[in-house]
Amino acid sequence: MKIGIDLLHFATADYYLGLDTFATEKHLDVDKFYIGIGQEKMSISPPDEDVVTLAAKAAAPILDQIDANEISAILFATETGVDQSKSAGVFLHGLLNLSKHCRVIEFKHACYAGAAALQMATTMVRANPKEKVLVIAADIAKYDIDSSGEATQGCGAVAMLVTASPRIIMIEPGSGYFTDDVMDFWRPNQRTTALVDGKYSTKVYLSSLKQTWDHFTEQTGRTFEDIDYFCYHIPFTKMAEKAHQTLVRKVGATLTPAEFEAQTVPSQFYNRIVGNSYSASLFMSFISLLDHIESNIENKRISFFSYGSGCVAEFFTGIMQPGYQSVLMTAEHKQKIAQRTALTYAQYLEFYYQAEQLEENIVYEPKNRGAYRLAGIENYKRYYQKNKPES
Ligand code: CAA
Repeated sequence: MKIGIDLLHFATADYYLGLDTFATEKHLDVDKFYIGIGQEKMSISPPDEDVVTLAAKAAAPILDQIDANEISAILFATETGVDQSKSAGVFLHGLLNLSKHCRVIEFKHACYAGAAALQMATTMVRANPKEKVLVIAADIAKYDIDSSGEATQGCGAVAMLVTASPRIIMIEPGSGYFTDDVMDFWRPNQRTTALVDGKYSTKVYLSSLKQTWDHFTEQTGRTFEDIDYFCYHIPFTKMAEKAHQTLVRKVGATLTPAEFEAQTVPSQFYNRIVGNSYSASLFMSFISLLDHIESNIENKRISFFSYGSGCVAEFFTGIMQPGYQSVLMTAEHKQKIAQRTALTYAQYLEFYYQAEQLEENIVYEPKNRGAYRLAGIENYKRYYQKNKPES
């Protein structure tokens, strides 16, 4: 039985900070960002945007195409949780008015949780092919001002409908995985921003890739040559390039520069202009590939490398399904990204600090132009609002 992703859509914030603006503010050469880390823009969420509203914007166009009452579970992956007890997915369930006969749970392990939720969803569908599982990966990447991570912020949510007989990609059974208790990136409970040992984190990312690759080949018998396109977790696009160089070296493959680019570049366009979206970034990379590759890639094998600091990593593959192009939402993705408003550095700081105010009672000024927004907090309870339909 084929199980995998039937529909796929992403959302990001309505605002961005250009790394040219950032470089001017910090008196740095912009090429440090454009070339050095391979990033151009970071999506910035206003205070009335959180992972629930991003997730709702990502999921709504999928639900419009199916009988939403058939959703049997929401697996919500995030490291930007909105409550220590109640899962973000239950707020989402309420906002989208889904069936009460639905289970909801939050998944966490840094940027890895989205891959974990996807794998869990395929297992649920394998056990009961009637299941239709909504997998959400949503995060707001936020670091301290003037820290090394500040240039690698961003935000986004990816919604994936996981079913039997999927129309986009079948996720193949078998994967390679790896866990090691390291402190390369973490966010203690009392902080809204992550702490990171930046250079160390890039080393652990690459060593985890080598470990998961070895395990993947042992478990599945598949080789580098069996894979047509490679999607990586992308904290910044240069990291994906380094990852692919590492893998190519490890397996001793000889690729021309054009072959190397063809295997990775289409899967980096969105990430380059959205920034890091933690658990969503690997799947945003997959959507970038689908929305930018000119040829038809039916029956091609795609690999996914998920890396979550701390660290847990997994390498798995999927096969593109015949006719997949007819269900892609490429135009919507491109339009939403193009419609974002540029922020000055001062406006970015305003959003940044307003979102830090986690008071008992707060009413947010409408800034989020999407169909769903965080309206406020009353007696520590978050309340959301469904706006007019998105234009
Ligand atoms: N022109 C061209 N290139 C330039 C340049 C210029 N003018 N100035 C600098 N560069 C290059 C540097 O040579 C360097 O290249 P290499 O990495 O190939 O050596 C690159 O630009 C970055 O420069 P620095 O090393 O000086 O940058 P930095 O110290 O400010 O920090 C970073 C880089 C550590 C990645 C930082 O952005 C960071 O801490 N980011 C957050 C952590 C992160 O994303 N880690 C990734 C792995 S962990 C993970 O993947 C999980 C997750 O999502 C967080």
